[in-house]
Amino acid sequence: MRLLDPVAAMLAALALTACGGPTATTPAPGAPLTLYSAQHKEIAKAWADEFTEETGIPVTIRQGGDFELANQIIAEGDSSPADVFITENTPALSLLSSKGRLAPLDDATLAQVPAQYESGSSDWIGVAARSTVLVYNPSLLPADQLPNSIMDLQQPQWKDRVGVAAGGADFQAIVSAVYAVEGDQLAGQWLEGLTSNARVYQNNVAIMKAVNAGEIPAGVIYHYYWYKDRAEGGGGSRNTQLEFFSHADAGAFVSVSGAGVVGSTKNAAEAQQLVAFMSGKRGQEILASTDALEYTVGDGVPANPQLKPFSELQPPAVDLNTLNGPKVISEMQRVGLI
Ligand SMILES: [Fe+2]
Repeated sequence: MRLLDPVAAMLAALALTACGGPTATTPAPGAPLTLYSAQHKEIAKAWADEFTEETGIPVTIRQGGDFELANQIIAEGDSSPADVFITENTPALSLLSSKGRLAPLDDATLAQVPAQYESGSSDWIGVAARSTVLVYNPSLLPADQLPNSIMDLQQPQWKDRVGVAAGGADFQAIVSAVYAVEGDQLAGQWLEGLTSNARVYQNNVAIMKAVNAGEIPAGVIYHYYWYKDRAEGGGGSRNTQLEFFSHADAGAFVSVSGAGVVGSTKNAAEAQQLVAFMSGKRGQEILASTDALEYTVGDGVPANPQLKPFSELQPPAVDLNTLNGPKVISEMQRVGLI
């Protein structure tokens, strides 16, 4: 049986009495949670299922995109059904944090993950990480012609030769990292050059398949789409390779998937428990053992051994709190990329 703290136990007892249920002399099972998830379905479900098994607390998942769900939480206000929000990238969490819509996380939870993968306001925490990569087709782009930097992709020789998923939160997080690393002026020029060069695809998988099919020589994606395809037989990636940018290039940006407790939750104790679970040892072991193939960030759990070791990545030092989703979206609209 799960132990409740005294306040939660008292509230649970009151709730049962109010509903005409048995007068509670024993702790009630935890209240059901609603998880707004922009993460990939499989990993969100794997976390939720095992959390429910361990605690008896049911979790209902509502799926959507990072900003779609963040804007929904804002629009719903204090009556939002969301208890916990997990994203693919941090800008949507920072948006909620800046509007005071997330609750501070428990200290013990924050201690599970290195500080650079957490909100400066202690109200969201990393649960997974993903590296930016260039997927390329060596028959169209020999390795000795690879760009040294993501910044090179603004040059005219990349005209119609690079794919981006401009409408997705993943690519928008990468653009926000370029702004953070290079500053507004250089990043703005890069975005203009990239816009005239890029072919826009629906998502990361479509880019990878286009590169695999020889439609374009290269594309900017996150690492795990390629590893997942390889793990599943390589049908969409067998003609491709991955280039990890190095030397703290903006193109070596490591983005973080995060989790936060929605400030208006009526189930704060259970919501805190779910975030603690995902970022803690068991949640991270689940991440490492499933085919999500994202990097672990918490509690010293090593990543899936199929991946290029996290210690070999050379990401730029980016303060995730400074990544600004709304600014990047308006910049992308200014140059006509979205
Ligand atoms: Fe993704």
